[in-house]
Amino acid sequence: MTALVTGAARGIGKAIALRLAKDGFDIAVNDLNERSFEGSDVIEKCREFGVRAERFYADVSKSAECEALVKAVTETFGGIDVLVNNAGITRDGLMARMSDEQYDSVIAVNQKSVFNMIKYAGNLMSRAKKGSIINVASVAGIYGNPGQMNYSASKAAIIGMTKTAAKELGRRGVTVNAIAPGFIETPMTDKLTDEQKAAMINQISMRRYGQPEEVASVVSFLASPDASYVTGQVIEISGGIMM
Ligand code: NAI
Repeated sequence: MTALVTGAARGIGKAIALRLAKDGFDIAVNDLNERSFEGSDVIEKCREFGVRAERFYADVSKSAECEALVKAVTETFGGIDVLVNNAGITRDGLMARMSDEQYDSVIAVNQKSVFNMIKYAGNLMSRAKKGSIINVASVAGIYGNPGQMNYSASKAAIIGMTKTAAKELGRRGVTVNAIAPGFIETPMTDKLTDEQKAAMINQISMRRYGQPEEVASVVSFLASPDASYVTGQVIEISGGIMM
């Protein structure tokens, strides 16, 4: 069984790759390029679980690169059983001052990538009549978040895309679900100021940030036979966020 995780050199994607390796999946680790893997031990750590793990470079906002990625993973591992669309970026700013570049780049990386990857990997799964796709959305796509017009648009879209893909692929035995993490401690959230972080924590029922492993355990469930009749769902992993 093979799992492909996009944007998995670090952060939540890395935690997902490690957890799925622990679960016994061979792991195809995607990230942008060689530089993205600098200082990353994701491949070595996955292999410690006795599974195969390989890197695959691709910019998932680009359709042709996604097609080549799916082809390369299939040739290397013989198929794709689980796809985790995790790659994502932020380019925050209040909407009055948000540039077209800020808006378009976030939509391309966070949202278009999901279309690209589901198109190619979903086709493969459809033919194999099995598979699980897990899309990483965000609480920002459900509740909105000031300064994240671009990001919340991309994540809300992912929720709609998840439901549509679940309806299209259900009869082929393929499940498609989304997760919506809240504030998780990763290099992405390291960029926030102490003031922004303090404001966030008061909105979290559990009064603490989440860890990447707490996201990965939910992905592990959705990728497992225990979730064989779960599709088209959005699971919040936010410590009970109140936005
Ligand atoms: P991160 O910035 O630590 O890691 C993202 C990874 O994606 C990086 O390794 C980066 O090189 C890669 N990446 C970026 N653009 C790419 C592209 N075009 N093609 C391939 N790979 C690309 O971010 P983090 O925090 O681990 O986030 C992972 C996912 O979780 C993202 O989709 C993010 O929006 C989502 N998320 C994160 C939350 C958090 O609090 N950290 C909360 C909710 C959702």
